[in-house]
Amino acid sequence: MAIDTFETITHSPQETQELGKKIAGSLKKGDIVALFGELGSGKTTMIQGISWGLGVSKDIYVNSPSFVILKEYRGKFPIYHFDLYRLKDFSELTEIGYPDLLDNKGVVLIEWAEKIEKYLSEYIRIEMKYVSLNEREIGISYSATRRKPIVGGHQVTKLPGHQ
Ligand SMILES: Nc1ncnc2c1ncn2[C@@H]1O[C@H](COP(=O)(O)OP(=O)(O)O)[C@@H](O)[C@H]1O
Ligand SMILES: [Mg+2]
Repeated sequence: MAIDTFETITHSPQETQELGKKIAGSLKKGDIVALFGELGSGKTTMIQGISWGLGVSKDIYVNSPSFVILKEYRGKFPIYHFDLYRLKDFSELTEIGYPDLLDNKGVVLIEWAEKIEKYLSEYIRIEMKYVSLNEREIGISYSATRRKPIVGGHQVTKLPGHQ
């Protein structure tokens, strides 16, 4: 159940990445960011921005780890990027040590969070929808227990440059 929601439409991949960078500004170790949305809705693009905002070098290729499920990047703390598109069963995640990663070691970013929604408790929820070729509708909210603002360090209903 979400307690706070922020919605916007971005008009380019760059704009989505910029939003990702802003979100990154208030992430801390142990946070889980769960991204929902169809193929091509911009989840990886958003994760690129979040990763850059967390200090990952632009030389490092942040893309969907579709075949390995998990990629790890080094930013100001470890970033664990999951793509669960091909996940068949939750046990596949436990095999690669998923629960241990949630132990405040870094930030966990999950594409196709739909697949494990029922196992997630406290997380930042990003829902992405394809609107047109260059437009994506993006909704950001928190799961029930997280009350911290996530953009810009204060409660916002509107971001500069976003409608
Ligand atoms: N406003 C936008 N936000 C994000 N991606 C966009 C936007 N407009 C166009 N795109 C394009 O849509 C595609 C989204 O792909 P990707 O981020 O890999 O999505 P997903 O990971 O959800 O499958 C990319 O080719 C990107 O350049
Ligand atoms: Mg992707």
